[in-house]
Amino acid sequence: MKIINVDASKKYDVIIGEGILSTLGEKCVSLFGKGRAVIVTDSNVAPLWLDEAKKSLNDAGIETVEFVFAAGEESKSIETLSELIEFMAENRLTRSDFAVALGGGVTGDMVGLASSLYLRGIEFVQVPTTLLAAVDSSVGGKTAVNLKAGKNLMGAFYQPALVLCDTRTLGTLPENIFADGMAEVIKYGVIFDKDLFDKVSSGDVKNDIEDIIARCVELKRDVVAKDEFDKGDRQLLNFGHTMAHSIEKCSNFEISHGSAVAIGMVIAARASHALGWSDEDSTQAIIEANKNNNLPVECGFDPADLADVALSDKKRTGGTINFVVPKVMGECVLKKIPVEDLYKVAEYR
Ligand code: GLY
Repeated sequence: MKIINVDASKKYDVIIGEGILSTLGEKCVSLFGKGRAVIVTDSNVAPLWLDEAKKSLNDAGIETVEFVFAAGEESKSIETLSELIEFMAENRLTRSDFAVALGGGVTGDMVGLASSLYLRGIEFVQVPTTLLAAVDSSVGGKTAVNLKAGKNLMGAFYQPALVLCDTRTLGTLPENIFADGMAEVIKYGVIFDKDLFDKVSSGDVKNDIEDIIARCVELKRDVVAKDEFDKGDRQLLNFGHTMAHSIEKCSNFEISHGSAVAIGMVIAARASHALGWSDEDSTQAIIEANKNNNLPVECGFDPADLADVALSDKKRTGGTINFVVPKVMGECVLKKIPVEDLYKVAEYR
């Protein structure tokens, strides 16, 4: 088991280990006392892990109510958020009660936002059950729902009181969902840690998954401690994401976020080298790591379409954006580029 302390506007532990879901109740009692909890999860995760989470809380003396929503990105909406908050109110949760986000990124982001809003803020616990949530979205306090105009446009920075990651939950993930998380792991390696990159690039990761998650969380902990509110260094975590958002949109969201990030990293590396922004060409190494981890390396979209979407995402022309450039493997930098340069970047898709 690994415990990583996050020191942001709130201090909390991220605990990673096999079989630790059964300790959820005792951990919550020590943080909040014997209050009440709403467990929020989706229709995929509920049959797998809801009973165990509920039992652990109930055995520790915490009363629970459950809110289960339809699995999928479409549920990350103002409508589901509002249903959840109404549910909290109907069940008379008070400020000494708390929420448990049992699931992947959609669940964690939405429960975090609901917790920040209900009664002007109740505590919440993240229990990530996907690799992507474990290494990225459950840590650092970014919460959000989607608007019609785009993803994650309504949200808040609101830190959880605890993150509890039981690695058994990753054993029930379909291969493509596991691979989505590996795209974020590869991303941490390219941005911050060549040893991590080398360790995961063969794709032989499952036996070491606890250490790999812990390393990613340490890296995220460090960047969040420096820049919780995303004004500077935290933007490095957007490596591969500028083109990824365009790829997701151009595919009508048929290409998953992780797959889009995988392709976006290849484009960013290739473009950065070709345009003279990188000291070293990391493209081939990233391609190999993606392939070995069942991730794609290219997309057939028209470069102008990709750039148009990226530009409309930025909702402006004539400005600049911070583009994340892999300087050498294990070290990325932010480079301010004119937004129109995204047309040049997209050529390297
Ligand atoms: N997922 C990127 C961040 O938390 O900043």
